[in-house]
Amino acid sequence: MGRITFDHTGKNVMVFGGTSGINLGIARGFAAAGARLGVASRSQDKVDAAVKELGNDAGPALGFSLDVRDAEAVKTAVDQFVAERGTIDVLVSGAAGNFLAPAAGLSPNGFKTVIDIDLLGTFNVMRAGYDGMTKPGAVAINISAPQSWIAMPFQIHACAAKAGIDQVTRTLALEWGPEGIRVNSISPGPIAGTEGMERLAPNAEAAEASKKAVPLGRWGEIEEIADMAMFLASGSAQYVTGAVIPVDGASGAGRSLGNR
Ligand code: HXC
Ligand code: NAP
Repeated sequence: MGRITFDHTGKNVMVFGGTSGINLGIARGFAAAGARLGVASRSQDKVDAAVKELGNDAGPALGFSLDVRDAEAVKTAVDQFVAERGTIDVLVSGAAGNFLAPAAGLSPNGFKTVIDIDLLGTFNVMRAGYDGMTKPGAVAINISAPQSWIAMPFQIHACAAKAGIDQVTRTLALEWGPEGIRVNSISPGPIAGTEGMERLAPNAEAAEASKKAVPLGRWGEIEEIADMAMFLASGSAQYVTGAVIPVDGASGAGRSLGNR
């Protein structure tokens, strides 16, 4: 099946949480489209590996080892990126933490930990990124999930965090639209080959049930999420902002009969 490819030559793209899984896939998509990358996450080893592979003709990638819960560290990284590259054209916030835990057994700190990484982290990234973003023209992309509107057992922390992220997206689209910054959420369904699905479907039986619950009958591919990011950052999406866009095989569309 044909795929549209987008040209992001010379754009300055910063991906928080961009060292593995879906977010690394998004960073790879931008690097292949000619953009100059910056990636940030906690593990120095993961940052180093991502930096090594994301450099291209447009320039070397920049890497930052930090925790998105630390607003000052996020600000320092953004400032360094902008000092080197001049501006941020595309800002992606995708760092997240997750584990299955029944609400009645989850400690307040367990709940807070996921809220802090996902939701506060997204605020920190957007807040720090704002000053350095190209105005007009910058694009911000937050990574959500269908659990932001379809509740899921053992996911009270992530459901609450992702719902909050979508409201961050909409609020920023309202506030920053007049300055020419677009802000959207991508909402991936279950994606193959990711840490997320290792945690949410930790055995073959759970994986099979999860696939059956998707109307398209399969998990998505990392590249299918990257494709949406390439579109959102492109001139073809110039009137798209404040949107939460599912790329989920309709797994978040409603109560499904599954794929039988
Ligand atoms: C219950 C748990 C727990 C578990 C941790 N906690 N794991 N509670 N069940 N399995 C509790 C701890 O007991 C502690 O509370 C608190 O959470 C903080 O734990 P730490 O280990 O100190 O946290 P930290 O070192 O900051 O690590 C964060 C983490 C970790 C989320 C726990 O797993 C992580 O770093 N994950 C990043 C990678 C990841 O999760 N990727 C998948 C994203 S997928 P107490 O009370 O004991 O102090 C994804 C899918 C989205 O997001 C789709 C659905 C929305
Ligand atoms: P992943 O590989 O674990 O990606 C998470 C990334 O965030 C990693 O680069 C991780 O690197 C970084 N990170 C985690 N905690 C951080 C922190 N406190 N500070 C800075 N960076 C941090 O998981 P994934 O499954 O690909 O998920 C990526 C995104 O997609 C998440 O937002 C997730 O909620 C969303 N999503 C995933 C699925 C799925 O099927 N996998 C479905 C819906 C939504 P370090 O360990 O180095 O920090």
